[in-house]
Amino acid sequence: MSNSKGTTPVAPIPISRKPAPQTTGQTPPGSKTACIRTFGCQMNVHDSDRIRRMIQDSGYAEVQRYEDADLVILNTCYVRENAVDRVKGHLGELNRLRREGRVKKVALTGCIGAAEEARSLERTYNIDLVLGTHNTYELAEFVGLPTMRETYTPELPGTEGEHSAFVTIMTGCNYQCSYCIVPTVRGRMMCRPLDAVVSEVENLVAGGTNYVTLLGQTVDAWRHGGKRFCDLLEAISEVAPRVWFTTSHPSNMEDRTLRAIGERDTIVKRLHLPVQSGSDRMLKLMHRGYKAERYRRKIEVFREAAQGGTLSTDIIVGHPGETEEDHEQTLKLVKDCAFDSAYIFKFSPRRGTEAAGLPGTVPDRVVQRRFLEVLRRVEQNGFERNQRKVGGVEEIYIRHGSTDDGKAIGETWSGHAVHVNSGADPGTYVTATIGSAGPHVLYARDPSG
Ligand code: 5AD
Ligand code: SF4
Repeated sequence: MSNSKGTTPVAPIPISRKPAPQTTGQTPPGSKTACIRTFGCQMNVHDSDRIRRMIQDSGYAEVQRYEDADLVILNTCYVRENAVDRVKGHLGELNRLRREGRVKKVALTGCIGAAEEARSLERTYNIDLVLGTHNTYELAEFVGLPTMRETYTPELPGTEGEHSAFVTIMTGCNYQCSYCIVPTVRGRMMCRPLDAVVSEVENLVAGGTNYVTLLGQTVDAWRHGGKRFCDLLEAISEVAPRVWFTTSHPSNMEDRTLRAIGERDTIVKRLHLPVQSGSDRMLKLMHRGYKAERYRRKIEVFREAAQGGTLSTDIIVGHPGETEEDHEQTLKLVKDCAFDSAYIFKFSPRRGTEAAGLPGTVPDRVVQRRFLEVLRRVEQNGFERNQRKVGGVEEIYIRHGSTDDGKAIGETWSGHAVHVNSGADPGTYVTATIGSAGPHVLYARDPSG
């Protein structure tokens, strides 16, 4: 599962999106076309939903290939250097297509747009419009809508009427982790009022949404009008048939929330809680604000509250100054917490962050070895834990309908990804026995009834 870019998406379940209408080659002559490419996290996927709404409202048909598009929008990620390299590759390709007259305009939005580097990219690649994360609404003007500041703000729900929807409950981040560019490009934390979130979810559910994912950089830091995240989660769990949330910060994660995950039927028993390192020395250097022991205690509460639930995390290997001893501590924590899956990242220096200027660079080959060691341990945990699910009967939420091979991808209430032979529609449930398991995914026997 690992790749040389230093990330390993170990068994995360892609959130199902209704594919954009395929208009390739079939758009009526004279109609405007736009292509949106999304890089990075679920926040970006959600922002792209908003962008999609804007371009559709202004009469663009969405196409999937650059060469069919009048306007190409790259909604980007800046969190690691390889994300920027990927976008540069796309920008180079777009420049070529523009010279050939096959693409007219290129817009760059998202986190790269909010970074200083965007200015030089704008010049190098002749980008027509660069927007950060706070002024995406200006795209509305660019595509010919009247100024839409009020309409296209973070309050706007992304995807109505689909079986699964993201709901942003907060934007930005008030932490200053040594390695992280997010606070620079996304700004300080802003939380939406509880009532606004609840009524958005009610509208989505009335429109056919069966699964709501609450989104934010540190969702569990949400607070508003004297209420805390757990209050919001409980309120949502009353109105949505299925709820999950991501991503959380260990310092904000309350035991009350962990217990609510276990107790409330509508909350998926899946916790993503980035730990980053198992070494107290590194956690301090990273300004994470907790020690490994406190993290372990949180996990104990979760495991007790949501038995059989799934736990995932983010880990950075090779942060400046990371010694062999620090790495051993991470391996130990991975074993103790028995993560079901993890995103493992090789440290990537981001200009403007504290860690980019720290001494103690870890040599590439050492980073690679540590990366693989962490990966192996996570996969071993995942495999062992998945094996325990074999033989159990599960209610499976279909996230992606079956493809040509007849296999649909679903999710159990414990948050496990399952492949199941079923023609059931996305957003519905099937019941099936788990027949086998790999390190990342479960395989169901043919569903009953
Ligand atoms: N290098 C490597 N990984 C990083 N992350 C954030 N910034 C960096 C960086 N500079 C990882 C963290 C975070 C996840 C979203 O990306 O693990 O939790
Ligand atoms: Fe970045 Fe730390 Fe904020 Fe997460 S909590 S977005 S890692 S600064």
